Amino acid sequence: MTEMIHVEAQDKQAEKINLHDEFKAEVHAGLSKPRKQLSSKFFYDEIGSDLFNRITRHPDYYLTQCELDILNTHKNEIAELINSRAFNLVELGPGEGIKTKILLNNLLNHQANFTYTPIDISTAYLQELSTKIENEIKGISVAPIHGDYFHGLNWLKTHSNKKNVVLFLGSSIGNFDLIATQHFLKHLWQVLNKQDEVILGFDLRKDIKILLRAYDDDQGITKQFNLNLLRRINDELGANFNIKQFQHYATYNVYTGAMESYLLSKIKQKVDIAACQQSYLFDALEPIHMEYSHKYLLSQIEELAKESGFAIVKHFFDKKQFFVDTLWRKE
Ligand code: AVI
Repeated sequence: MTEMIHVEAQDKQAEKINLHDEFKAEVHAGLSKPRKQLSSKFFYDEIGSDLFNRITRHPDYYLTQCELDILNTHKNEIAELINSRAFNLVELGPGEGIKTKILLNNLLNHQANFTYTPIDISTAYLQELSTKIENEIKGISVAPIHGDYFHGLNWLKTHSNKKNVVLFLGSSIGNFDLIATQHFLKHLWQVLNKQDEVILGFDLRKDIKILLRAYDDDQGITKQFNLNLLRRINDELGANFNIKQFQHYATYNVYTGAMESYLLSKIKQKVDIAACQQSYLFDALEPIHMEYSHKYLLSQIEELAKESGFAIVKHFFDKKQFFVDTLWRKE
C-alpha cells in the first residue's frame, strides 16, 4: 500500500473526540426538535456495520443483488468506457469491497493503468480494507485517503494530474434528502476536473410491497439495525433508552418516493442522556425519524445530472430494472 494520505487530523485521540462531540451535538439537536429525528449516518458503528452487511445478504434487501448483477453483466463495457488513460478509481465510503472487487479485477484484466483510492473517515477501516484488497487482488495499487469525501477529493485535485473516476455505489445517495443530494452533486462537480467521471448507484421506484419488505425484512435485521442506534447512544453517551419500548416502523412516501424509517415509542416515557445533561420526553406512539432511502424515477436522475453540470455517458441496469448504476462525465 502507498502510504495512507491523511487530510484530517491524524491523531487517533483527536479523531475520536471530534466524532464523539459531533455525535453528542447532533443527537441532542435531533431529539430536541418538535419532530424528533436521529441521523442515519450514525448507524455505522462496528455493530451497525455488521448488521448492515447482514441486511445486504438478506434476499428481501434486493438492492445488493441487483447492483452485483449490474456490475457482473456490464463490467467490460464499464472498463472500456472509463479506461481512456491513467486514472484514480476513487471510492467514497467503501463497503465490504465485494462489489468493488468485481470492477478492480476486471480493470486489471483490461490492463488498465489505475490506482484504487478509497476515501473514508475511519483510519482503522481503511487500513483493514486496503490490506484485504491487496491480499486478494495481486498487482493492485492502493492509495487510501483518510478524511471526509470532499477534503479527500480536493487533495486529489491539487496533488494528482490523473483522471478521477469516482464510485458512489449502493444507493448511498438515496439516504440524503433532495436538497442535500443537489448540494452533494454540485460540490462533487466543483472538486472534479474536466473529463473526470462518476459512477453513482440509484435505487429505482418499484412495487411498494417490494420496498416495504426490503426495509422490514422477515428476520428483523433491519429492525435491529435501527434500534442499534439507541443502543449506541446508551453506550457512548450514557443514555438509558429501554430498547424494548421502541418499535421499528418503515413506510413509503408516495410523493417524495422515499422509504422512511421510524422508531416509535411504545409508551409515554422519559429518557436521560448523561453526556447531554438532558432528559427527553416521549409520548406514546411518538416517532423518531431515522432514515430516508429515496427511490428515483429515471427522469429525476437525468434532471439531477443536468442541473449539477454532468453529462450522462450511460445507464447500466440490472435484469429486473430495479436499480441503476449511472456513469456521468464532467464536460
Ligand atoms: C446504506 N443505504 C443505502 C441503505 C439503504 O438502503 O438506504 C441503508 C439501509 N437502511 C435500511 N436498510 C439498509
